[in-house]
Amino acid sequence: PRPLVIAPSILAADYAKLGEEVRTVDQAGADWMHLDVMDGHFVPNISYGPDVIKALRPHTKKIFDAHLMIAPVDPYLEAFAKAGCDHITVHAEAGPHLHRSLQAIRALGKKAGVSLNPGTPLSAIEYVLDLVDLVLVMSVNPGFGGQAFIPSAIDKVANLRAMLAGRPVDIEVDGGVSAATVGALAAAGANAFVAGSAVFKGGTMESYKANIDGIRGE
Ligand code: DX5
Ligand code: ZN
Repeated sequence: PRPLVIAPSILAADYAKLGEEVRTVDQAGADWMHLDVMDGHFVPNISYGPDVIKALRPHTKKIFDAHLMIAPVDPYLEAFAKAGCDHITVHAEAGPHLHRSLQAIRALGKKAGVSLNPGTPLSAIEYVLDLVDLVLVMSVNPGFGGQAFIPSAIDKVANLRAMLAGRPVDIEVDGGVSAATVGALAAAGANAFVAGSAVFKGGTMESYKANIDGIRGE
């Protein structure tokens, strides 16, 4: 099995000192930086866009894992690539041209991800599997941090791992992830874990490290 990846969501960081938060959570053991982009249209909240991501880029060498909760998404893909995102994940529900969006991300030289809301079946991605480097399984309805984990995500991960039929695709889970849920998700076949509130509680480097180690099961 692949090593577990912990991807703190800076949605839960202190926005007044985001650069410092990114450096601190990097040192605390984050593997990827999960960047939640929300447009107030696809999801009922607004966060930040490519200019903020670009400003954060010099603060860490870790992978920038962008989760775009925006519609339309195609007009903005190049801006996120230029801002320094390494993974660009779009929602299967965000528009009628998922296949085109994934092709566009690969054409920009970035890893292509697709995310599924809790109510969306796996069949939505059946015909794009060869265009995908990562599947982001939502275990909350996207829009806000700090929500309760939806347990049906565990079955979805297991069915997705089977559906991938050995393809080297990351399965990342996002929403309400904590030390209590990682074991079952990893056993089902997930290898990457987004955590916002569970990482950033405590507000210090020592607490972030303890939180990340706990989620990793160490
Ligand atoms: C939800 C976002 C998540 C969120 C996770 O719309 O996609 O990445 O920040 O936060 P927690 O871990 O607090 O549920
Ligand atoms: Zn996210």
